Amino acid sequence: MANDLDIDFYESEDPIWNPALMTIPVPGIRRMVNLAAKMDDVIHLSIGQPDLTPPEHVIDATVEALRAGQTGYTMDAGLPELNEALAEYYGERYQRPLTPDNILVTTGATEAIYLALTATAAPGREFIIPEPSFMLYAPLIRMNGGTVRAIPTHAENNHQLDPQEVIDAIDMNTYAIVLNSPSNPTGTVYPKETIEAIVEEAAYRGVQVISDEVYDHLIYDDKPYPSVLKHCSDLDHIMVVSSFSKTFSMAGMRVGWLIGSQGAIKKLRRYHMFTTTVANTPCQWAGVAALRGGNDFIDGMLKEYTRRRNRLVQLIDETPWLTGYRPEGAFYVFPSLPEGVSGANVAMRLLRETGVCTIPGDTFGEHCGNALRISYSTSLDKIESAFERIIPWMQAQDFT
Ligand SMILES: Cc1ncc(COP(=O)(O)O)c(C=O)c1O
Repeated sequence: MANDLDIDFYESEDPIWNPALMTIPVPGIRRMVNLAAKMDDVIHLSIGQPDLTPPEHVIDATVEALRAGQTGYTMDAGLPELNEALAEYYGERYQRPLTPDNILVTTGATEAIYLALTATAAPGREFIIPEPSFMLYAPLIRMNGGTVRAIPTHAENNHQLDPQEVIDAIDMNTYAIVLNSPSNPTGTVYPKETIEAIVEEAAYRGVQVISDEVYDHLIYDDKPYPSVLKHCSDLDHIMVVSSFSKTFSMAGMRVGWLIGSQGAIKKLRRYHMFTTTVANTPCQWAGVAALRGGNDFIDGMLKEYTRRRNRLVQLIDETPWLTGYRPEGAFYVFPSLPEGVSGANVAMRLLRETGVCTIPGDTFGEHCGNALRISYSTSLDKIESAFERIIPWMQAQDFT
């Protein structure tokens, strides 16, 4: 019922609402998941959060914090112990000295993105975004009068971004470039050369790079992770966002952060106080435990997701009409259908006729309507069963 109301709300032209809300599209994910909720025997390849339970020491730390009475507000920039732990953790990971004043702890990466984009978007300012992209960015920019310039990427090219295309798109109205590597929905990881070229040119031209790095630990095949934080010369032109949601399976615990120059953090702290005040206190203690608890959980998760990724790539290759590729990070793949075929129709029919729930490509931008997002944040058994339904269904189609 609540979901039905949500949809009425998004589509409403009722004048009591701020017209800026019209920039928020009816989310494709919601539409599919709402329908799936009314059906039996659905296999979800639509999930955007890890299916593992968080590490035991993280759960213990949350409960201990609650029992110890850690239920009040923290400092506005975050629990000081967490800001310290994050500064130390990132400093070591990328050999970049950070102080706690470079970090703002937020309610998930979502709040960090909200703050970064809505504190900067304004009429006359253009934001360059590779497309397909995570669906939060464009509406938040447009809501505040900013404009979006999309740079389409393609399955045939592993959804890689040509840095020269980004650089060529910079003009006098460009305010920022929004990057998300590994990407939701494509799982693409940009190589060091792409990150370096974009970050360097952006700094030279006085353009901000806002980098959403929530999947920064979900990198396969033992590859290094080229973070914007590692490859920028200073923090003056970057804001890096991440969270515990994906790395430690803590999505519902809602703790994220933004890393930037001390000046940017100072400004955003005030905005944060007027947005959510502080992040969840016991879960910030859980975050300290997560950062200090070693890599075993992440290593196990990577092993499991690598198996799934490898099998899924094979299954997509065996599926008629789908063009796949080998994603190098996150837990998504974004195969395309033939040009002109509507991913929204295919996803809806697949759900109705086979009970497999995927997400239509148009959820992630205007240039990728002929695609489906498939998540492998579900067991290998379920992935196999889903393709036992998808492959015969696709064989029966004629998309010529
Ligand atoms: C690319 C990307 N950024 C941000 C988020 C939100 O993360 P959080 O749970 O930390 O708010 C998600 C969640 O799916 C995501 O895929």
